[in-house]
Order: sequence, then structure tokens, then C-alpha cells
Amino acid sequence: MDRVVGAESRVCPVTGFRVHRAAEDLVKANAVAAVVSLLLGGVAAVVVLFTRWMGAFPPEAFYQSLALHAWNMLIFWIIFFEIALLHFAGSIMLNTRPASPAAGWLAFGLMVLGALVVNRAILTNPLNHLSFQPYPPLRGTPDFYLGTILFAVGALVGVALFFATVRKAYREGNHQGPLPLVVFGAFVAAVLAVATLLVGALVFVPAFLWSAGVVPNLDPFLWKLAYWGFGHPSQQINLAATITVWYLLSQLTVGGRTPSEKISRAAFVLYLVAINLGSAHHLQTEPSGALSVGWKWINTGYLMHLAVLGSMIHAFAVPGSVEVGQRLRGYTRGWFEWLVRGPWHNPAFSSLVLSVALFGFLGGTTGVIAGTEQLNLKWHNTTAIMGHFHGVVVAGTTLAFMGITWYVLPLVFRRRVVGERWARWQPWLFGIGVGLLVLAYMQLGVRYGLPRKQPDIFRFRGLPLAFAWPEEVYRLLAVAGVGGLLALLGGALFVVLVVATVLFGKRLTDQELRQQYALPALPSNPGHAAKELPAVPGTFALCLVFAAFFVLVYLGNYWNLSRSWPIGG
Ligand code: HEM
Repeated sequence: MDRVVGAESRVCPVTGFRVHRAAEDLVKANAVAAVVSLLLGGVAAVVVLFTRWMGAFPPEAFYQSLALHAWNMLIFWIIFFEIALLHFAGSIMLNTRPASPAAGWLAFGLMVLGALVVNRAILTNPLNHLSFQPYPPLRGTPDFYLGTILFAVGALVGVALFFATVRKAYREGNHQGPLPLVVFGAFVAAVLAVATLLVGALVFVPAFLWSAGVVPNLDPFLWKLAYWGFGHPSQQINLAATITVWYLLSQLTVGGRTPSEKISRAAFVLYLVAINLGSAHHLQTEPSGALSVGWKWINTGYLMHLAVLGSMIHAFAVPGSVEVGQRLRGYTRGWFEWLVRGPWHNPAFSSLVLSVALFGFLGGTTGVIAGTEQLNLKWHNTTAIMGHFHGVVVAGTTLAFMGITWYVLPLVFRRRVVGERWARWQPWLFGIGVGLLVLAYMQLGVRYGLPRKQPDIFRFRGLPLAFAWPEEVYRLLAVAGVGGLLALLGGALFVVLVVATVLFGKRLTDQELRQQYALPALPSNPGHAAKELPAVPGTFALCLVFAAFFVLVYLGNYWNLSRSWPIGG
């Protein structure tokens, strides 16, 4: 039995957090909605993937599935999960009952309603086959925009509840002093969410009025500008949330501690001040001339790098945190014993390592490259961009969210994970699959100029200017296809095992939970007093490798800029 503290709460036998039932129920509901969205987005991905790979479905099915995939994955899966995280960070990590559980359920209800309305709109009317870049004159039906607004208002209520709960934690004295790093990261993500959702209102409310015939027309340029004021920061919420989850996973799986709390916090603050400037890179090829070259250079060549600096700091601090944790546990031999002797049997740990590595090497580096004025010419609207953002939101964010699910699932539902052996393989299947997909699509975009969102590169719908692609394109499409398939299998395995655990997992007592999931006690390690953190030479070496890779890829892209695509050649 759990140690019951009051009728409304219990103490988790593994983490020691006091868990309020109201918060736990909200975490469960949002997490379940997230997994259902992941399932829907994954089913749609099958059509999208096989159409790109071998032209398997007609263009109409492709565009419908692309919209379903994009909305369910990037918006519903991720945001439901992030709201679950906010309930976890605000209430459970601060030992405080949610300020208003009713507001939490209102938020959840609005989000579910919004998601249903958007999905229905996409399924019932081709006008709503709008994925991302839905600029006027493209116009959906009013219910499509209304669903989006309902979902966003729900998310905003969820975020407001997080702030209210944090305030309550201080007021009731449940928490004193600075917020723990993980809650601080969640706080930054929440601030970004408020700003982003408010800018989102500038986009979707006018679009709703326009589609309902109340407003006669929209200025396409201003709309596009505002759209990216919303679109890019929304990815930064994901970035802040992903990094927050990395710190949390390192803490939970190996007792990790960042080498410097202050610097990790400062890196989060850099996101707050600089991230919106990153939006400029979506507008580099804006043809209207409304944005001056100087403006684009200053934003993408200089200011954007303030946010990149934040990411560079986390790129050191997160592996550093794992190394500190492992060294404190006695794994001190050489530069890499801490890594080699990590708890690899635990899918939460392997998800963490894979997510950090794939995000950094594939998603992060390419974000800087695609965000550079000149290099963007070879990236914009090609499959390379898709490669980049799958590196970020799939290999990075999605894998990190899967990892924290593996850790928290048995604790929240108090059941043993079903198919633990399979669960160990899941992050590898998913991570390797996404890695192949990303690498192949990046090559296809940068080297061959393969357009994104194009279902018919095989026949070009019979256009007279159609041409044959070089053989290598088909080989790379096959690599992307096989990678995508592995990722889909990894995603399906995740959904099946999570659902099976929730429904059929063996119920565990406190004692069993502790035995299975608690960190083993620290071995005695006289080399380090509690306050003195060990040095992290292994992380330093890894970061040098990363920096060398980054420089090579960056220069490689400049070299590539001097070569034209072999279109029709
Ligand atoms: C599970 C395996 C996945 C596979 C095989 C996959 C595959 C694809 C493919 C083939 C495209 C089409 C791109 C094009 O032709 O332009 C695409 C688009 C996209 N995917 Fe995925 N994807 C997966 C997971 C995800 C996840 C987890 C997310 C978000 C968290 C995501 C977000 C997106 C977005 C936002 C688009 C672009 C929509 C647009 O162009 O507006 N995908 N994906």
C-alpha cells in the first residue's frame, strides 16, 4: 500500500514526491489524450511515408494524411503531454494541490473538444487539408479555425493553472527559495507558451472571421509574419520542455545534477529573451521584399545565436549532469566509465541518451544551418527542412517524452510495465528509425532539391516539364522509407506497451515499486564531499567531438551551396 498522507494525497515510494490525487488524475488524463493523438498521427504517417517512398496513395489522400499527421503529432501529442508535465512540475514537484482542479478539467475538456473539431474538419472537407504554412489565400472552413482556437484557449487555461499552483506553493509555504531547476525550465516553457498563444490569437481569430465571411480579406504578408511569430516560438516551448525533461530524466535515472545550476538557469533565460528572433529564418525567402536584407542578416546572422548559446550550454550541462550523477555513484574510472556503465537496461535512460545525441547532432546543428541566410537557400521548402524538424521534435522531443513516460508510467499507475524486454528495445527502434529518416531526407533536400509536401515526384501529375531523378534519389527514398518504417514500429510498440501496462500491468506494492524502480543506494565514494561536484572530463571530450562535427557540417553546407541541384540534368 502507498503511504497515505491524507485522503487526497500519497507519498510516492520511489521519488518521495507528495502526489495529490487531483494532480495525478490530470496528469493521467492529459497523458492518455497525448498517446491517443500519437496513435492517430502515426496512422496518418503510414500514408504520408508510403506516398513519398513509392507513390503508394493518391495526392488527395496524401494531403489529408499530412494534415492529420502534422496536427496530431506536432500540436495535440506534444501539447497534451506538455500540459501533463506542467501538472507534474507545478503540483507534484512542489508538493502542492493544484490551485483549481476544476480549471484543469476545463482546460482538458476544451483541448479535447478542439482536437476533435480540428480532426473532424480535416476528415470531412478538403479545404482543411492545411498543414503548416497555411497562408492566405488558402482558406479552411470556420470549424477548422474554431477547433484550433478552442484547443489554444484550453492550453492557455492549463498554463494559467500552472502559474497559480506555483504561487500557491509559495503562499502555503510548501516551497521556499528558488524553484528547482526542472520546475524553472517548465516555468520558462509556460511563459513562452503564454506569449506564443497570444500571438496565435492574432493569426487564428482573424482567419476564423475571414472564413466565416465576417472579414472580407486578410493581408497575406502580415498574416504570414504573425503566423511565424506564433509558429517558431511554439517550437521553443517544445525545446524548453524537452530540455526540462532531460534534466528530470538525468535526476531520476542516475541521480544527475547539473554542473552549474546558475548557468543552466541562465541558459533557460536566454531562450526567453532571444527565441522570437529565430522566427526570422522562416521568412528568409519571403518574396514580397517587405523584409530588408539587413533585417534578415542581423536577426539570423547575429541575434538568433543568443538562443543558440542557450542550447550550447544545455548541450554541455545535460550530459554533464548525467556524468556528475554517475561519478557520484562511484563510476569514476577513466573518461567514459560513467557512460558505459549507465543503466542501459532502463528505457528511460536509453531514451535520454539517444534523444540528447540525435537532437544535438541531427536537429540542433541543422537548425543553425537552415537558419543562416545564405545556407537557407538550399534548405527552404525541401525535404531537408523536414529532416531538420524530425530531428528536433521526433528524435528529440518525442523520444524524451517517451523516456519520461517509461519512468513515470509504473509509478503513476502503480503497475509493472508489460513486456519490459520489448520496452528496452523501443527507444533504439524509434531512435535509429528516425535517425535514418532524417539523414536521408536531409540529403534528398540539400543535394537534390527534393521538394517537401509533394506527393507526386514520380509522375508530376503528367506535366510536360517532368524529369527523371538520379538513381541515388530512389535509393535515399528507400533509406528514408525503411527508417520511417522502423520509427513507426517503435512508435507502435510504445503505444501498445503503454496501453497494455495501464490496462493489464501487474499491480505493485510500495515495496515492489521501490525494488524495481528506485535508484540503488549510492556506493561509498570518499573522493567527493556532498557539496563538491566532480569534474566532467568525459562530457568535455564529447562536446569537443560535437563542436568539430558542427564545424564540418557547417562548412560542408557552404561547399554544397556552390553546387546546383541536378534537376533535369
Ligand atoms: C513516427 C514516425 C514518423 C514518420 C515516419 C514521419 C514521416 C513524415 C513524412 C514522410 C512527412 C512528409 C513530409 C513531406 O512530404 O513534406 C512528415 C511530415 C511532418 N511530420 Fe512526421 N513522421 C513521424 C513522426 C512525427 C512526429 C512524432 C512529429 C511531431 C512530433 C512529426 C511532425 C511532422 C510535421 C510537423 C510534418 C510536416 C507537415 C507539414 O509539412 O506541414 N512527425 N512526417
